[in-house]
Amino acid sequence: MGFGLILAIESSCDETAAAVVRHGSQILSNVVASQIAVHSPYGGVVPELASREHLRNILPVVRSALAEARVTLQDLDAIAVTEGPGLAGALLVGISFARSLAFALGKPLVAVNHLEGHIHAVLLEDARRAETNGRSSELPESQSLALVVSGGHTHLYLAQKREIPGEPPSWCYRNVGRTVDDAAGEAFDKVAKLLGLGYPGGPWIDALAPHGNPETVPFSFAQIKAKVHRRGDPAALDPSSMTYFSYSGIKTAVLRYTHVYEMESSIETRRAALGFMANPTPADALPLCDRRTLDLIASFQRSMIDDLRRKTFRAAERFGVDRVLVSGGVAANRELRVRFTADAAERNLGLAFPSLALSTDNAAMIAAAAWPKLVAGEFAPESLTAQPSLPLGAQPALIESRERPE
Ligand code: KG4
Ligand code: ZN
Repeated sequence: MGFGLILAIESSCDETAAAVVRHGSQILSNVVASQIAVHSPYGGVVPELASREHLRNILPVVRSALAEARVTLQDLDAIAVTEGPGLAGALLVGISFARSLAFALGKPLVAVNHLEGHIHAVLLEDARRAETNGRSSELPESQSLALVVSGGHTHLYLAQKREIPGEPPSWCYRNVGRTVDDAAGEAFDKVAKLLGLGYPGGPWIDALAPHGNPETVPFSFAQIKAKVHRRGDPAALDPSSMTYFSYSGIKTAVLRYTHVYEMESSIETRRAALGFMANPTPADALPLCDRRTLDLIASFQRSMIDDLRRKTFRAAERFGVDRVLVSGGVAANRELRVRFTADAAERNLGLAFPSLALSTDNAAMIAAAAWPKLVAGEFAPESLTAQPSLPLGAQPALIESRERPE
């Protein structure tokens, strides 16, 4: 196959991204145009604005990705694009662009699930590390448990590489956990917003939390059992095997705390002060936060991470996996990395994160997920369109279950 070059395009939310990757693991370029400045005044992504920004950015971003990789359109073997899940209008910009490019060049088009992309961000870097160390891969061929934790998702998947002699390897997934309401990143964003901090909130809370005492406010999480399982949920084939997360309650608890301790005026002062600055950073917010605010931020972050790690490692034990992969924007969180690392070491489990650049949305991860599909000749139909609620992995039969009874 030519040079093994894929040009991947990602536009599912608020980053317009393009990357050129060789053989699914060697990143030649990885360009991301962030829309943070556009959505910041609204404290969240405005779908209509996101689509318009993608339209404005897509051509320059693709041009930069090709130029940085020093390749031409003719050198490419395939175009890959995120099919879903995500914002319909945002996805359509990337998909229309990729479809037209593939048609004009007469090259194959590969459709990728955004969540599979996040999982492959970890696998890509593992393959790269292994290559430098002269090994084929550091990942076990057995099952891994993948936590995808971002602004739109909090999902657990069993991920397994299938290698059948004479056939190209492929990956299959079984969904074994999901949030019943807000995603973890959404909770970080909403809590930061209600405390008068910047957008997106995760990096602000990450930077401010070490200045507070995480033991101050004991937040609790509802234990959600199988009863919340909705009829017809395609992911939960066996609801008793599902792990449920829930993060809307903690946001309300933080809000209530600010009312009880009458923090409203200091929050508004902070919001206004940061609003006057051209490009405020968490360092600018620090002197605007009193002790109670910093303790609240630290306690919120600690509670979120404790809930994520408890449920993830309980699922890892239940399914008998020997490796946990953590990806998505929230995987950039420093305290999360430290605490997951300690937990994994205690249990003698493998653990892998993507680098910070590949934790948040990017197109290199889309190219990495597209590679096995390209090798297997799994091409997208000409009618490819956006799938805003695209699930990942409804093929439990392909995943051997090693589940231990509770
Ligand atoms: O993966 P991503 O770029 O986009 C989605 O697919 O959603 O994730 C963005 C999310 C946002 O909610 C952002 O606040 C959160 O990831 N995030 C963080 C950190 N960096 C980004 N959350 C906690 N700590 C961080 N350092
Ligand atoms: Zn994402």
